[in-house]
Amino acid sequence: MKIRKAVFPAAGLGTRFLPATKAQPKEMLTLVDKPIIQYVVEEAVQAGLDNIILVTGRGKNAIEDHFDVSYELEAILTARNKLDLLQQVRQISDMIHVAYVRQKEALGLGHAVLMAETLVGEEPFAVFLGDDIIDAAVPCMKQMLDVYNTTGGSILAVMEVEREAVSRYGIIEIRKDAANGGRVFRIRDMIEKPSPEDAPSRLAVIGRYILSPAIFRALEETRPGAGGEIQLTDGIRHLLETERVYAFRFEGKRFDAGDKLEFLKATVEFALKRGDLGPALREYLRTLPCLNEKTSKS
Ligand code: UTP
Repeated sequence: MKIRKAVFPAAGLGTRFLPATKAQPKEMLTLVDKPIIQYVVEEAVQAGLDNIILVTGRGKNAIEDHFDVSYELEAILTARNKLDLLQQVRQISDMIHVAYVRQKEALGLGHAVLMAETLVGEEPFAVFLGDDIIDAAVPCMKQMLDVYNTTGGSILAVMEVEREAVSRYGIIEIRKDAANGGRVFRIRDMIEKPSPEDAPSRLAVIGRYILSPAIFRALEETRPGAGGEIQLTDGIRHLLETERVYAFRFEGKRFDAGDKLEFLKATVEFALKRGDLGPALREYLRTLPCLNEKTSKS
């Protein structure tokens, strides 16, 4: 069955980015000149998914406004003949069909996905976590849909992490009999945030999923797990009892924009790649005395 809908859980509290996220959603933090959620929505559109379901919560109105038409702003830009800017602003509201559903309490990522059940219905769908920004020649979800067209089933994007980093991720255990061309694996089991000794691999689940609608039944049966939250990982473990779930090692570089240091790294890398900003930023970075000291020592 074709994937048509993309669910964006965006109802988390963003505590790692306080105080910036006290009164504004993490998803609206600006990476160079766009809110991070827009990068991820653009990835969905590039993968052919423009039917967007945003799971929001209290204090998230700025996200809805961002993807809505801004009549006043458009009128002012038209009057001032700022047609380039007008086109940019219009494109944001034109690019997607968006529906919103509310998660009244932040009871966990699994619970947030479950909130989208009525809007998704009985069909497989994609999930994007808004703070995972992926820099890739072919958009990560497009790569996943290509795999889905041959495997079917549910697919989780994974990346290899350092052994010391496994305790920050959901880590998969692969079925030894099912490696396929090095990038696609059948998952046997998953462990949330294992210690390096207990980790069955170094393949960590990141924020892109294709899920079968059976996940909704699995999540309904899932009790609160780590942190008292209904975890998507636990729901997928239930799903594994009845269905095939694949892992796909995507090509590209992922930044966790919900983490301050990773957000800074993403900002620098994305800005350096921009034709209008990159050369001047590179020049500026070269003049920073602290960087030069390090260079002269090394
Ligand atoms: P995170 O683990 O990044 O949680 O959630 P968070 O609460 O947003 O941020 P921190 O850790 O407190 O800084 C991963 C994704 O799941 C969504 C978040 O919005 C984010 O996109 N989420 C999480 C929900 O939609 N609802 C929840 O109850 C929890």
